[in-house]
Amino acid sequence: MIELQLQDKTHDESRQGEALVVEKPKTSNGRKLYIESYGCQMNFADSEIVASILMDQGFETTGNYFDADVVFINTCSIRDNAEQRVRNRLKQFESVKKSKPGMVVGVLGCMAERLKAKFLEEEHLVDVVVGPDAYRDLPQLIGRVDEGAKAVNVLLSREETYADISPVRLNSNGITAFISIMRGCDNMCSFCVVPFTRGRERSRDPFSIVAEARDLFEKGYKEVTLLGQNVDSYKWSAKGEEAAATDADKVDFAQLLAMVAEVSPELRVRFSTSHPKDITDEVLYTMGRHDNICKYIHLPVQSGNSRILELMNRTYDREWYMNRVDAIRRILPECGISTDIITGFCSETEAEHQDTLSMMDYVKYDFAYNFIYSERPGTLAARKLTDDIPEDIKKRRLSEIMDKQREHSHYQLQKMVGRTVRVLIEGFSRKSEQDYCGRSDQNAMVVFPVEPHLTPGTYADILVERCTTATLIGRSI
Ligand code: 5AD
Ligand code: SF4
Repeated sequence: MIELQLQDKTHDESRQGEALVVEKPKTSNGRKLYIESYGCQMNFADSEIVASILMDQGFETTGNYFDADVVFINTCSIRDNAEQRVRNRLKQFESVKKSKPGMVVGVLGCMAERLKAKFLEEEHLVDVVVGPDAYRDLPQLIGRVDEGAKAVNVLLSREETYADISPVRLNSNGITAFISIMRGCDNMCSFCVVPFTRGRERSRDPFSIVAEARDLFEKGYKEVTLLGQNVDSYKWSAKGEEAAATDADKVDFAQLLAMVAEVSPELRVRFSTSHPKDITDEVLYTMGRHDNICKYIHLPVQSGNSRILELMNRTYDREWYMNRVDAIRRILPECGISTDIITGFCSETEAEHQDTLSMMDYVKYDFAYNFIYSERPGTLAARKLTDDIPEDIKKRRLSEIMDKQREHSHYQLQKMVGRTVRVLIEGFSRKSEQDYCGRSDQNAMVVFPVEPHLTPGTYADILVERCTTATLIGRSI
């Protein structure tokens, strides 16, 4: 059983490089596929779509690339170190390919989209380069490689959402699952490569989303996380986005959340990622109206300083962000909030860094993902601004942010001691089969002793007795 101990649902370090496990197709073509994934949960979800497309062609999946006829690596470009990781991994595949000349090596995802055919020149072992919107073309592209050619498809689409493809949930615990609700991103944050690698934003048909949630629930799943780069700007219309005649033809994110929540009160609903400029009070009220929508919001701030936010092209300022946090605290007093912070962005002064620290004091985040700014080729910041903060200063600022976050995470967990939390039991804890673990509504990891009446996939009320720096510890009542 796979267990996610980290709180991040978007960039889970423990899953980086995870491979899909063994599954047999209905009719086999005798070939085996290995896929390894990096980056955000969208990428992991995409790998399950890729597996579904190729299993329909008769491929069997394998968890061991030595056994595979086709080896895919689904890549991330968000920071330079994410790309370096992939390059190093390709070197390891190279030695296997030398002993298996017929093996097809493919690069998928964001790096494929960013580097396009250049990948074939830079990494000679690569046979096929496929961007995130071209996965339906994979069988044809593999066919071309079988005939001795190299193949590239990095066309981005304005429509593709893979709505009709049911992902094969290969690495699932059978209890929690991700559902992609949209693709691409129309925000132009100056630091970010995503709009270039994943294309224009498009929303998936809400009825296919609800059908997927219902199907998961019928199969025994108890929690779904709705995924998108910016879920709050989800919008769909029966007649195409612009042309919807009346409001009745349109579905926005608040309405979608309610539709998924109504599948069953026993199905928990989470979502990620929210954008401070787009999260509406209506989304917060919808969360408040449904007990099964978890009270947890990932709301990346990036910086606490208005001048830096403007240079980042985030389209909100410090006051706007604080106002959104105030709305969350007012409408959903128990809601957990997490964030992403980039430190050492172009021209960031010491006083501006202090503004980020004071924003952290204001919100007291439950959790934060903190990054050093990494210049990405082709982005607005790379073209217009200078990456001028020395590495040692970036690192010192990062460690100040991390120290503060540790205090705040502990403060938030400490507040729960003595209270009872509802937990969806996910399985044994990482450390011991004497303990179960699961998450609270606010996304805190909770560990408690196994008892005969408790089963994974059911809910338990846990009295929190103490906490560590990242976990609540208690017992069932
Ligand atoms: N450098 C550092 N961090 C980045 N992120 C996005 N682009 C960069 C970059 N160029 C961070 C942001 C985003 C998270 C997914 O990754 O904080 O919210
Ligand atoms: Fe996900 Fe962004 Fe990395 Fe692409 S670049 S895999 S969208 S985090």
